[in-house]
Amino acid sequence: MMTASEDLCKVLLSEEELAARVKELGAQITEDYRDRLNGKHLLVIGMLKGSFIFMSDLVRHIDLHCEIDFMIASSYGSGTESSGVITIKQDVKDVEGQHVLIIEDIVDSGYTMMSVMEILKGRKPASLALVSLLDKPSRRKVPVEIAYTGFEVPDEFVVGYGLDYDSRYRNLPYIGVLKPEMYS
Ligand code: IMP
Ligand code: MG
Repeated sequence: MMTASEDLCKVLLSEEELAARVKELGAQITEDYRDRLNGKHLLVIGMLKGSFIFMSDLVRHIDLHCEIDFMIASSYGSGTESSGVITIKQDVKDVEGQHVLIIEDIVDSGYTMMSVMEILKGRKPASLALVSLLDKPSRRKVPVEIAYTGFEVPDEFVVGYGLDYDSRYRNLPYIGVLKPEMYS
């Protein structure tokens, strides 16, 4: 029986690189919002399940009053492709008048974040911004405004640090690429 890490052909982003960038993003967000909240808190919405590790690391570097919530959006797709049809499987409570920060693992085609941002924008938040750990711009089908990006990645399917393939590999502490024989 192989261990999870043995299924990878390479590590793209090490634990150290991830930790350093997450710390920078937290500091940047703290700086950008410190004078904007006017006594309100920042509503941080993590997109489950992919953002769970990134979010838990990131919020510990945001030195602001935060409320934490989660959303589940799923797209009907097959294997490594997403379709344009998004359904909200778990929603957040009212966001009207709130400063909202969405936390996502990766923006690929853009369909998921375009839909979620549209839906939340329609509920009249005080502000709405997206943080995505990874951005795969070469795959974009629809435009998405990402306020904070961790890393741009090439057109390869990546796993680890929250990201899965077929529900596995989320627990790897770094981000890597699977051996081609793992996609079958
Ligand atoms: P989009 O709607 O095509 O932008 O896809 C977004 C979702 O697809 C992400 O939230 C991920 O869950 C998943 N996804 C896209 N690319 C990858 C990848 O390389 N590894 C793991 N999941 C991915
Ligand atoms: Mg996802």
